[in-house]
Amino acid sequence: MPERTIRLVRDGFPGRMSLDTAVSRVLLGDADRGSRPETLRLTIPGRSIAFGKHDVSTRGFSTAVAAARAAGFEPFVRLAGGRAAAFHEGTVAISWVVPVESPIEGIRTRFAAVANVLVDALGSLGIEAGIGAVPGEYCPGDFSIHVGTAKVAGIGQRLTRSAAHIGGVIVVDGAGDVRNALVPVYEALGLEWDPATVGALVGSSPGLRPDTVIDAIVTRLQEEFVVEEASLSADTVAAAEALMTQFAVASDRSTAETSAMNIVLINGPNLNLLGTRQPEIYGDSTLADIESACVSWAAEAGATLDAYQSNHEGDIIDRLHRAKDEADGVVINPGAYSHYSYAIRDAIEAIEIPTVEVHLSDITAREEWRRHSVVAEVCAKTIYGRGVDGYREAIRFLTTGET
Ligand code: DQA
Repeated sequence: MPERTIRLVRDGFPGRMSLDTAVSRVLLGDADRGSRPETLRLTIPGRSIAFGKHDVSTRGFSTAVAAARAAGFEPFVRLAGGRAAAFHEGTVAISWVVPVESPIEGIRTRFAAVANVLVDALGSLGIEAGIGAVPGEYCPGDFSIHVGTAKVAGIGQRLTRSAAHIGGVIVVDGAGDVRNALVPVYEALGLEWDPATVGALVGSSPGLRPDTVIDAIVTRLQEEFVVEEASLSADTVAAAEALMTQFAVASDRSTAETSAMNIVLINGPNLNLLGTRQPEIYGDSTLADIESACVSWAAEAGATLDAYQSNHEGDIIDRLHRAKDEADGVVINPGAYSHYSYAIRDAIEAIEIPTVEVHLSDITAREEWRRHSVVAEVCAKTIYGRGVDGYREAIRFLTTGET
């Protein structure tokens, strides 16, 4: 007897992909708060390039956006990380929101479960697909779906505290359009890849349509779950309309594009004492002052910022690990750990998120032991000796790439 119920929603906004993504964000937020059951949207999207957050903070993003537009593809910022992917009317977009207690723990299991559903559904259409990255593929991922050496679908995940969003695209037809749109975009982003790896399901099943693929996925889900058809409420759409600029890319290419960037700010040991701790070296601002200033600077740049402070090495490492799935950039002042914590250095390297190291004081002009930072080599940038302004510069660097 199946017991897990999935709400299936077929409403999408193909002409407004930033609104479509905002809908997913609203559903994810609801699920996170426990007010939304598991919901899967299967839609046929509009011509668009879904940029990952790393793309947004990459030099060359503006050129990539211009290239997307020139190819007739609407640029937008998607929820998950990863690199640019293309949607169009020959593809199926997947947006699956799952309320879950500890999203980090189940991340690979969820990836595998969704990938298996897709492989089974394709199998029912007579297409033999496999799971795993194809060497040279666009937006590489361990759970890409391929037919031979052609990537036909990709999935990504975005986690919140108590929910997960699995987003993806299945290329049914029009591999050439995906390829042609991605070639100049990847070139602008400076990413190596092999355009020959873009595939479409019609390669194995001529004449296949996106609707048929959606039906096959639904049929496969019904074998395992109770699938309830539902539609988006007016409230959900209104909430998404209020959020959608976060996922849109400004049309003025000369300005820094809007991003839905989420920055994590981490301050390390003794920085909770700022304001009273050696003000002649560190200044008068308290940690609370710095954190609220950073929230405002991030907001001005269209980003959100989550501030954290700890005096404990392991806690800082745990916070960095969590950032991997929720942040697009990290600003960290590791305090004295900067000078000797290889564990924090390794954590920064492992999460693969652009990280800026900040020190209020000029560490190069202080005691010998402070002059060297072991984390600097894994950070995109190190700023020191600029007081609280150093944090502002770090946020500016992450949100605009300006040094
Ligand atoms: C600091 C410099 C470190 O050497 C020191 O241990 C700190 C603060 C700074 O912000 O200047 O705690 O990171």
